[in-house]
Amino acid sequence: MLISTTTMFNICYGKFAIAALNVWSMEQVLALFSAGEKSSSPFIVQMTPVVRNYAHSEMLIGMIKAASKIYPKAIFAIHIDHGNEQHVLDAIRSGDFTSVMIDASHDSFSKNITRTKAIVKKAHEKRIAVEAELGVLSGVEDDLSVEDKNALYTRPEDVETFVNQTGCDSLAVAVGTSHGAYKFSGGAGLQFDILREIHEILPGFPLVLHGGSEVNINEIKRINQAGGNLGVSAKGVSGKEIRESINYGVCKVNIATDARLIWTRVHREFFGDTSELFDPIIPGKTYMKELEEFIIEKFELLGSVGKADLIK
Ligand code: 13P
Repeated sequence: MLISTTTMFNICYGKFAIAALNVWSMEQVLALFSAGEKSSSPFIVQMTPVVRNYAHSEMLIGMIKAASKIYPKAIFAIHIDHGNEQHVLDAIRSGDFTSVMIDASHDSFSKNITRTKAIVKKAHEKRIAVEAELGVLSGVEDDLSVEDKNALYTRPEDVETFVNQTGCDSLAVAVGTSHGAYKFSGGAGLQFDILREIHEILPGFPLVLHGGSEVNINEIKRINQAGGNLGVSAKGVSGKEIRESINYGVCKVNIATDARLIWTRVHREFFGDTSELFDPIIPGKTYMKELEEFIIEKFELLGSVGKADLIK
């Protein structure tokens, strides 16, 4: 059942969080829906504009609708991740999305407010929730690359004005995570002092953690053993940090890199071990199974297992 992120966040706030998985393929959509139904966990299926260009938005939405028929007990929201005005307005018009993100975080504070507020007005007319971002995350997400030196933590003193003036429904905060496999290169970790302050200023307001991948070092090692060349400094957010962030209002945790790493490892190992084979279905099945297991573990970590009925 397709539901609103607002409904999800009203129920999970301070107790558990919702995993938002970035998808680009049929295997991922099936794994996510199967995981959600099996563990009775609500989830968010999200896509970036780059992925919508790659797979075509009609194809992605078609796969999601099909998955919701195959897994009729799945409770989910559909969200556009890191959109600009064109992507977001397109998504609003389509009627397929229950939530959109307008990412004007690279603009000045006042321009971010102006751009976000305009989208909120349009989205709310259609009862669609809006995620906005304040602060700048470093790292690489599709075609967006921000160097560490240009990253900016969210300033707690700005959040109240931003939320009041824009009317956004949730706020992505930059508190030390980054997109991609190389987080915390300076070793700083998640900035709980900033997160705590934001939570105190905005009690009850849903916060979003981008860059939520764990970046399991065993995946990196296996990828490299199978011919990959990923830097061993690859590092993500620990489960402990994720759990703790829920106490400070984090309701949505974005995950893309971990799913990419599992895909890379499964395919490198498969084709490396079976050089005589060329059947995409065999590694495809392995990927679906392993991704589903990974997602269920994430639901357990976030505390969302068994909560689908509560939200429905
Ligand atoms: P990761 O790169 O940590 O998976 O984060 C993805 C993300 O935040 C998408 O918006």
